[in-house]
Amino acid sequence: MAIERTLSIIKPDAVAKNVIGKIVSRFEAAGLKIVAAKLIHLSRSEAEQFYAVHKERPFFKDLVEFMISGPVFVQALEGENAIAKNRDLMGATDPKKAAPGTIRADFADSIDANAVHGSDAPETAQVEIAFFFAGLNVYAR
Ligand code: PPS
Repeated sequence: MAIERTLSIIKPDAVAKNVIGKIVSRFEAAGLKIVAAKLIHLSRSEAEQFYAVHKERPFFKDLVEFMISGPVFVQALEGENAIAKNRDLMGATDPKKAAPGTIRADFADSIDANAVHGSDAPETAQVEIAFFFAGLNVYAR
């Protein structure tokens, strides 16, 4: 099994609910290690850049507004199969469809305010880690 790095964002809704620790505990329990982390308040232009791939989607404006509505906790996570493992822990984008026991099922309120973001593929993980942690090795080893 490959050791990978992935980007996780604990979104403004979950930070406001004061559940950063509960969410991070799930990463740790699953064997994912935090190799970089910071609490930041994204600017509008940073959020637009990060989500540029979705800029034609109808929800883009609301997504950007939501992501700049409060601080976010951004982490680079490392572990075996980290990208898929993190996505499994997160659950489906829409919390109503997320499996019981996943982060979104337990902490998210809606598809707009859905608690966490996680890179969806190795190429995305590399770009996203570099976006937030310039100079950090985007590969595990
Ligand atoms: S999709 O439809 O498969 O492209 O969706 P996905 O890549 O999982 O998610 C796109 C990101 O936009 C956020 N978002 C929404 N997606 C779908 N519908 C609505 N209404 C919506 N509102 C916000 C969703 O949470 C994804 O953000 P990230 O940060 O990548 O999880």
